Amino acid sequence: MSAEASPLPEKMTAAVVVEYGDGKDVVKTKDDYPVPKFAADQLLVEVRTASINPVDWKIVTGKMKLFVKRDLPFVAGFDFAGVVAAVGKDCTRFKVGDLVYGDAAPNGSGSFAEYLTVDEAKCAKPSEVQTWEERAGVPLAGLTAIQGLVTHGGLKAGQRVLVLGGAGGVGHFAIQIAKILGAYVVATGSESSKIFLQSLGADKFIDRNSQDWVKELSAEDDKVQIVFDCVGGHDHWERSQKVLVDGGIMVTIVGDSQDHALTVGSVLSTGASVIGRKIGSWFGDKKRYHFFLTESADLESLNQLTKWADERKLKTVVDKVYPIEDANLMFEASAAGRTKGKLILKVSEDSN
Ligand SMILES: NC(=O)c1ccc[n+]([C@@H]2O[C@H](COP(=O)([O-])OP(=O)(O)OC[C@H]3O[C@@H](n4cnc5c(N)ncnc54)[C@H](OP(=O)(O)O)[C@@H]3O)[C@@H](O)[C@H]2O)c1
Repeated sequence: MSAEASPLPEKMTAAVVVEYGDGKDVVKTKDDYPVPKFAADQLLVEVRTASINPVDWKIVTGKMKLFVKRDLPFVAGFDFAGVVAAVGKDCTRFKVGDLVYGDAAPNGSGSFAEYLTVDEAKCAKPSEVQTWEERAGVPLAGLTAIQGLVTHGGLKAGQRVLVLGGAGGVGHFAIQIAKILGAYVVATGSESSKIFLQSLGADKFIDRNSQDWVKELSAEDDKVQIVFDCVGGHDHWERSQKVLVDGGIMVTIVGDSQDHALTVGSVLSTGASVIGRKIGSWFGDKKRYHFFLTESADLESLNQLTKWADERKLKTVVDKVYPIEDANLMFEASAAGRTKGKLILKVSEDSN
């Protein structure tokens, strides 16, 4: 470790996962948790704000242990925004006092705490015009949206996009990004999300409870080039093929299973179905299928999101802000699956 600019505390306040289970029961805010040690290629960040993503509460349930195993106790959370408190000796891009934000997955020490260690390679300068709450909401959900639409979906101006699940963290960025890039956007959600989705720029709203998006979009002129699936489910690929133009693509971030358990069986069956759908497209199926995991070190995309935020083209809609003492309630709200935009954890006050 390099020498720090000023002495760092040894203990901090952190929302600690004390055992696997429901976040509301097993996340306890403690004020004597050890400040993490940073490696040569890492920053130590004084966290101002953090945001929860569904993966955080899924990890805490223990259902993802096969791939994301944490020794108890641990601090959850990947998205962060804060100020650099110390830099590892191999870091070159940041110095103490710089503003920083990013998606620390998977090596970060956990952002629901006063201090976080994160690989410098995952870090970017945040927007100058956003609040700390708005900044923390961007990285994971924003990266997922831009990668889904642009990197994997190949979105072009003038295309038609269907966003399944437009009101959540990823969906609300996806609608805005698709509009920035000149697409016509159809979004699904509950009736209670209609005005929200329209305010984000959705050209057409489909009520997920009273309407059938296949019926709404299967006429030749209504079909879309991209289905961006933020909901998942075993029938979404079959149904998406009916609304995709030839050559169109379904990009999913959830896949077939919605039960959030990553078991050997679920991974093998998802892998087999993905391979089957890929082979289908190599041998002439006219609709393509793509499942992906977010690339957290994609700084080009993160900087693009920051630029759009600075230009006030892209906003983070903050559904609710929780003080760190109530971190367990943030887990409960996220797991309920009704978030509109982002849920934010306020960790420390801004002194800048
Ligand atoms: N593959 C990856 O790397 C990756 C990355 C990020 C996220 N994900 C996954 O993607 C999913 C979405 O993430 P998120 O952060 O956007 O979640 P989120 O913020 O919790 O999404 C909540 C929203 O989902 C909407 N919703 C739920 N069921 C729906 C349905 N059947 N149809 C339409 N909308 C529905 C709800 O809207 P209404 O109230 O309007 O119904 C709610 O506002 C999660 O499962 C997450 O784990 C995967």
